[in-house]
Amino acid sequence: MTDAFRGGGLPEPYYASGGVTLYNADALAVLAALPDASVDAVVTDPPYSSGGMVRGDRMTKPSTKYVQTGTAIARPEFGGDNRDSRSYGYWCALWLSECMRVAKAGSPILLFTDWRQLPITTDALQAGGWVWRGIAVWDKEGGCRPTMGRFASQCEYVVWGSNGAMPFEREVGVLPGVFRSVVKQADKFHMTGKPTPLMVDLLRIVEPGGVVLDPFMGSGSTGVAARELGLGFVGVEREESYAAIARQRIEDRASQGTLLPPTVVYRQADLLDLGAA
Ligand SMILES: C[S@@+](CC[C@H](N)C(=O)[O-])C[C@H]1O[C@@H](n2cnc3c(N)ncnc32)[C@H](O)[C@@H]1O
Repeated sequence: MTDAFRGGGLPEPYYASGGVTLYNADALAVLAALPDASVDAVVTDPPYSSGGMVRGDRMTKPSTKYVQTGTAIARPEFGGDNRDSRSYGYWCALWLSECMRVAKAGSPILLFTDWRQLPITTDALQAGGWVWRGIAVWDKEGGCRPTMGRFASQCEYVVWGSNGAMPFEREVGVLPGVFRSVVKQADKFHMTGKPTPLMVDLLRIVEPGGVVLDPFMGSGSTGVAARELGLGFVGVEREESYAAIARQRIEDRASQGTLLPPTVVYRQADLLDLGAA
C-alpha cells in the first residue's frame, strides 16, 4: 500500500496513463478522496467473505476456500475476505455509499456475489443509497466443483442497480440477463479472477466513452475489459502483488491497439416498434 497516503487525500496513483488510473491502497480511503460525480459506472467484484457454512470456514485462507483441489497454478493470497455476515453487510454499505457519491446521477452499478452472500449484498446495495434493479447471472458452465448428490454451484451473480433514475434512452443497447463464460486458466490472473470476455459483455451497460470505477480490481479484469471497449478506468487494489498484475495486464492490452466496436443491439424504441408489428 502507498505510504504517502497515510495522511488522507488521494494517494499518488500507482499507475496513470491513457485514461487509466490505478491506486494501490485501501478502497474506502481512496473512495473518500475521489471527487463527486466523477465516474460513469461502478463495476466490482469485492471480496465475498464467503466460502463456508460457519464462521470457522470463512476464516481460512482464500486459497483454501476458493481454489479447487488439484489446481496447478498458485496465485497470490489476498486479505479482507473473512468478515462475518453482519460486518460484511455494514462494510459493503460504507463503500457503496462512497461509490454512489463518486458516481454521476444515473450511473449503473454491478456487484459480483455468490449464492450465500446474495441477500446481504442486495441489502447493502440499497443501504448504500443505490436503486436495486435486478440480478444478472454468470453461468460458469463446467467450471465449478462437481458434488455428489447436490446441485452444482455453477453460477455467480451480478447484483445491479443505478444511482437514482436510469433513463431508457442511454447510448446502450438491449442486454442479456444470463452470461455464459467459462474460466480459462490462460485468462485467469487472480484466485477468484473473472473471465475477460465476461467483463467485456457486462461493460456493455456503460455508455461509450464513460469512466468505470472498480474499487476491488484484483488482477484488473474490469480494467482490461474497459480498455477493450475504449472506456476510461479507475481501479483500486490493496495487495501490491495484484496491483502489479493489473498494471501489467492493462499496459499489455493498451499495446495491442485495436478496440472492439461498441455494440448497439436494439434501442427501447426499436423494441416497441417490434412489439407493435
Ligand atoms: C474478488 S477479488 C477481485 C478479482 C478481480 N475481479 C479479478 O478478476 O482479478 C477482490 C480483491 O479485493 C482486494 N481487496 C480486499 N479488501 C480490499 C480493500 N479494503 N481495499 C482494496 N482492495 C481490497 C483483494 O486483495 C482482492 O484482490
